[in-house]
Amino acid sequence: MGKRLILQKNFDGFDSDEEIRVNLSAPIQLTHLFLNHFLKQESAAFINITSALASLPLPILPVYSATKAGLHSYTLSLRQQLKNSNIKVFELAPPTTETEMLNGFKQSDLKGVSVMKPQELVKLSIDGILNDKWEIYPGASGSLKLLSRIWPDFALSRMSHQFQQANLKENS
Ligand SMILES: NC(=O)c1ccc[n+]([C@@H]2O[C@H](COP(=O)([O-])OP(=O)(O)OC[C@H]3O[C@@H](n4cnc5c(N)ncnc54)[C@H](OP(=O)(O)O)[C@@H]3O)[C@@H](O)[C@H]2O)c1
Repeated sequence: MGKRLILQKNFDGFDSDEEIRVNLSAPIQLTHLFLNHFLKQESAAFINITSALASLPLPILPVYSATKAGLHSYTLSLRQQLKNSNIKVFELAPPTTETEMLNGFKQSDLKGVSVMKPQELVKLSIDGILNDKWEIYPGASGSLKLLSRIWPDFALSRMSHQFQQANLKENS
């Protein structure tokens, strides 16, 4: 779940705990609950769903972005710890995808953003899993990850530009 949050405007009463529990605590706790069972299988896999925003925050989704970066980090550690085991550890970082999650956004938030069809995301995800691609960053997720590494300041200013526009509009 991802909640739009303009910190100077609608911070009062904002429940960030729920977002952190659903996006970060739950996958970590589920991993711990399933681990012993998975270790007894011939082969098994964890597939953690992060986001394009795991590499670079979208300031209008500050808590969501932080949970996805956190889950990305946990997944890196998990993969290292299970390196010589029967368990594979995948990370799927979808780009903006046409699901119900987008209903929580304003049209202006999505201006200029390319939205992937779920069918396309599923196809690319399955291809990645079948090819043991541990980090699956389809479409714009891959570009964002690359940009955040080679030109981090520019990438963040692009993401913030969208937030500034929304902030100005909602304050006018
Ligand atoms: N759509 C995107 O653009 C996008 C981009 C990057 C990453 N993702 C990630 O992809 C994953 C799936 O998202 P989606 O796009 O399929 O979103 P979605 O259509 O809104 O589905 C969200 C799912 O999370 C469950 N959920 C929401 N709030 C919950 C809560 N408080 N407690 C327990 N379950 C809760 C919903 O359960 P109910 O159906 O029972 O309500 C639903 O199954 C998420 O991890 C999301 O962060 C999505």
